[in-house]
Amino acid sequence: MKLGKSSIAKPLTTNKHLIRWVEKMAELTQPAAIHWVDGSQQEYEWLCDELVAAGTFIRLNQEKWPGCFYARSDQRDVARIEDRTFICSFSKDNAGPTNNWVEPYEMRKKLKELFNGCMRGRTMYVLAFSMGPVGSPMSRIGVELTDSPYVVANMRIMTRIGLPVLQEIDKGSVRVVPCMHSVGAPLAAGQKDVPWPCNEAKYIVHFPETREIWSYGSGYGGNALLGKKCFALRIASNIARDEGWMAEHMLILGVESPQGEKTYVAAAFPSACGKTNFAMMVPPKALGDWKVTTVGDDIAWIKPDANGQLRAINPEAGFFGVAPGTSEKTNHNAMMTLRRNTIFTNVALTPDGGVWWEGMTDEPPAECTDWRGERWTPEIARQTGAKAAHPNGRFTAPASQCPSIDEAWEDPEGVPIGAFVFGGRRSTTMPLVYQAFNWSAGVYVGATMGSETTAAASGAVGVMRRDPMAMLPFCGYHMGDYFRHWIKMQRSLSSTPRIFNVNWFRKGEDGQFLWPGFSENMRVLKWIVDRVRGRAQGKETPIGWTPYYDDMEWAGLNISRAQFDQMQEVDRAAWRKELIGHEELFIDVHDHLPPEMIYERELLICRM
Ligand code: GTP
Ligand code: SPV
Ligand code: MN
Repeated sequence: MKLGKSSIAKPLTTNKHLIRWVEKMAELTQPAAIHWVDGSQQEYEWLCDELVAAGTFIRLNQEKWPGCFYARSDQRDVARIEDRTFICSFSKDNAGPTNNWVEPYEMRKKLKELFNGCMRGRTMYVLAFSMGPVGSPMSRIGVELTDSPYVVANMRIMTRIGLPVLQEIDKGSVRVVPCMHSVGAPLAAGQKDVPWPCNEAKYIVHFPETREIWSYGSGYGGNALLGKKCFALRIASNIARDEGWMAEHMLILGVESPQGEKTYVAAAFPSACGKTNFAMMVPPKALGDWKVTTVGDDIAWIKPDANGQLRAINPEAGFFGVAPGTSEKTNHNAMMTLRRNTIFTNVALTPDGGVWWEGMTDEPPAECTDWRGERWTPEIARQTGAKAAHPNGRFTAPASQCPSIDEAWEDPEGVPIGAFVFGGRRSTTMPLVYQAFNWSAGVYVGATMGSETTAAASGAVGVMRRDPMAMLPFCGYHMGDYFRHWIKMQRSLSSTPRIFNVNWFRKGEDGQFLWPGFSENMRVLKWIVDRVRGRAQGKETPIGWTPYYDDMEWAGLNISRAQFDQMQEVDRAAWRKELIGHEELFIDVHDHLPPEMIYERELLICRM
C-alpha cells in the first residue's frame, strides 16, 4: 500500500476491534493509502489545500470570506435520494411500508460487490466522530471510513471528530457505529480525477439491528455526511426506541421573555421547511425584549431525566443549511455564522471570489458563475430561467460561530423541553397555529402531518405528501411502531410538553403567502410560550385551541382581524379531504397503528 505524503497511516487508537475492522475494510476497498484523521487545524488546512489542488474546492476571497471554500457537485449528485435509501432490517415488517427494504443477506452481497476495490487510487480516511458533546451521557460515537476528503472537511464542521473521540473509543466501553462511505469512483493508475467523483449507482443502506451504515455513490449532504440523517436519525431512532428516548428531525430553540424567563421549544418541520430560520429567528423590536437563542437547527436527541422532564441535545456541531432564501433580512444570524470558516456547495461564485444565491440580496450581481460552472446574468436568468444557485445549495458552518447560539448548547445533560411544534409546508387547509388538546391528540397531529415536497430530496417539488413528524425519510423502523413509541413516552414523563402545529406557508387566492413569516413567527412563538406558561387564552375549535386575535401581539405588524381569521380558518370541506389523507396513511401502517391514533381520529371526526 502506497502512503500519501502527509497521511497518518498509523492507527490513532489502541482499540483492537477498530483496527481490525479498518484493516478488513481496506482489504475490501483497496485504497492507495489510509489516513487516520486527528481532527487538528493543521490537518484541516492540509486537507483543504489538497481539495483546492484537486479542483473540488475553490478558495474564496480570504479578505471577505476568511477560511471559506466553494464547491460544485456533479450535476447528478445534488440532494438526498430517498428512493435509493434502504432500511435492511432482519424482517421486512420492521422497516415498515414507508421504507425501502431489501433482505439484509442480499444487500450485503450487493454491497460487497460494490465496495470491492471501490477506493483504488484513493485515500481512505478513518474518521472517528461523536454525535453530541464528547463525554455527554447522551452522545454516541461512530467511525466513518470514507474516500472523500470533501466529506472529512464537512464532517469536521458538522460533528466533533478526531483524537478526543478516539480517546473515548480507547476507554473500551463505547459501542461504535461503523459507517462505510465511498463515492464509488476508483482511479486506475495514472487516471485523472474529476472535481466531484461519484457514481450513477447509489445506495444509502442501514442495518438497524447491527447498527451499521453503508453508503455508496454519492458525496452530497445527508447521503455522505453519515453522522447526520443516517446515524443521528435512522440508526439513532432504532437505538432510541430500544432505550426509551427519542431521535427527532427537530430544531431546538430557547425563548427568553422580557422578564428573563427561559423556555425551550423543539420543532419538527420537513426538509427545507424552515427549521434553520426558526431556530435563529430575530424577534421584531416592536414585541419588546424577547430573545431567541439557538441550540440546534436540524436534529434533537431527547430523553427523560431522573425527574421525568424531557431534555434535549443537538447531536451536531454545525449547520448544513439551505442557502437560497437566506439573507440579512430573513436570517441575520445565519448570515453572521457563515461569514468565515464555511464551505459553500452548489451556490454561485461571484467575480470577486465571493458567493451569491437567489434571495441573498435584493439586487443580483451583474454577473457570476452559476452552480453548474456556467456564466450567469440576471438577463440570462430572465430568458432561460436558469438559477444561479441550486435550490438545495448549502452552507456548512460551525454552530459555535452563530451569534444566537444558546449558552447551554453543549450542556451534556441537554436543555428542558417545554413544547413541541410540528409544521409542514401547506398552501391550503392548515391554519397558522393551533394547540393539540393533549399528548395523544398531539401525537396524532404530528403523525398525520402533511407537507409539500422540496428540493432537499431528489424528485418532484411541491407535491403534497404525508410526512409524519417530518420523519418520513428518516425513521429507521416501522412508522406505526414509531407512533406507538411517541404514545408510550408519556409514561416516563412527569409532565408532557404541550404540542402545537404551525404553518407559515398558507396562501391566499392570489397565490401569495398569507403570513409574512421569518421574524414575525415570533408572534406565534410568543403565544406558544404564553400557553405553555398558562398565560394566554385558547379558543376551542374542532382541531384544537387557537389564539384569539386579541391574544396575539400585533404591535408593529399590520394584520387585521379579517386577515387573521383567513389564516386561521378551519374549512370543513378541506378538513374532510384532510381526514381522508390521514386515513390513507393509517391504512398503510394499520397493523402496527396504536389504538390511540384510531380514537383520536374518531374524536376529530366527531368534533368536525
Ligand atoms: P433542512 O436543512 O433541509 O432540514 O431545511 P430547514 O427546515 O432548516 O429549512 P430552512 O430554514 O433552511 O428554510 C428553507 C426555505 O424555507 C428557505 O428558502 C427559507 O427562506 C424558507 N422559509 C423559512 N422560514 C420561512 C417562513 O417563515 N416563511 C416563508 N415564506 N419561507 C420561509
Ligand atoms: C434535510 O434534507 O433534511 C437536510 C439536508 O437537513 S441533508 O443533510 O442533505 O439531509
Ligand atoms: Mn433537515
